[in-house]
Amino acid sequence: MGSWSNRVAVVTGGGGGIGLAIAEHVVGAGGSVVIGDLNAERGEAAVARLGERSRFERVDVSDERDVERLTTAAVEAFGSLDAMFNNAGVGGAFGPITEQTVEAWDATFAINTRSVFLGTKHAARRMIEQRGGGAIVNTASIAGMTGGGGPQAYSAAKAAVIGFTKATAAELAEHRIRVNAVCPGAIYTELLTRGRPEVTDAWRAEIQPWPERGEPEMVADVAVWLASDESRFVTGEAVVVDGGLLAATPRLLDHDLPHLRRMSGIAYGNTGRDAEVRRLDG
Ligand SMILES: NC(=O)c1ccc[n+]([C@@H]2O[C@H](COP(=O)([O-])OP(=O)(O)OC[C@H]3O[C@@H](n4cnc5c(N)ncnc54)[C@H](O)[C@@H]3O)[C@@H](O)[C@H]2O)c1
Repeated sequence: MGSWSNRVAVVTGGGGGIGLAIAEHVVGAGGSVVIGDLNAERGEAAVARLGERSRFERVDVSDERDVERLTTAAVEAFGSLDAMFNNAGVGGAFGPITEQTVEAWDATFAINTRSVFLGTKHAARRMIEQRGGGAIVNTASIAGMTGGGGPQAYSAAKAAVIGFTKATAAELAEHRIRVNAVCPGAIYTELLTRGRPEVTDAWRAEIQPWPERGEPEMVADVAVWLASDESRFVTGEAVVVDGGLLAATPRLLDHDLPHLRRMSGIAYGNTGRDAEVRRLDG
């Protein structure tokens, strides 16, 4: 997909945040898009903005009939389905593990993981029928790669998305369908800030190495690249888009950082050889 003209994408959770940024990018590059979202107000506002090469379907991504209807809608409206962005998600269950309910755990997995299974199943059926290949891009999270990035069920559900991405990438390659995941860090959407960006600002300033804050478009650029011809030999990959957040953990050096910035040298551990230290100040 060097150019997106005549290409058709489905974006779940496209009513706002990262999904809307993906939809805007696809339409801006000449493609067509069907947005699937539970929030009709958001979805309708999105297509009003995106124009005639966009449609909205109200769906619950954890419901198989809804997801099948969504993939059919793309073919009926625009003639094919070339890229599936399984992006809808919620923070889900939170609180101490000792207080988690089975219902909240299962609901978190239904929305964040079952949805990706269903989106992949029905998009792959269409793409195999069309015999022209395709691309599936799943929105996972750095929370699926380490602890500390989100609540327990969310972290586990996103780890499952990464595993599922790799398994289906291997399976669908013979049909020239690529499957990749994008793993955002802290991205300023309603999901993260819950209307209080100043709270997110405070911890971002301390933890994320990159100075600018994460915006939906930064994730969308990578997700759309993963569905384009420019990434035609990339499949089964989970690409982190987080301004270095994951690279900077476990942050063990942070306490020593002001001290370490004033010297340079080499330490030889317990070999008996003294460390060589060069002081940088004064
Ligand atoms: N914002 C972040 O910092 C961040 C970080 C890592 C991963 N993510 C992931 O990115 C994806 C997009 O999140 P966002 O930050 O843009 O959030 P967002 O809340 O702005 O957008 C998510 C959209 O998904 C829709 N949705 C939720 N449940 C649905 C369901 N059952 N059926 C259909 N639609 C549903 C919502 O209505 C909403 O419009 C999610 O999968 C999220 O877990 C976000």
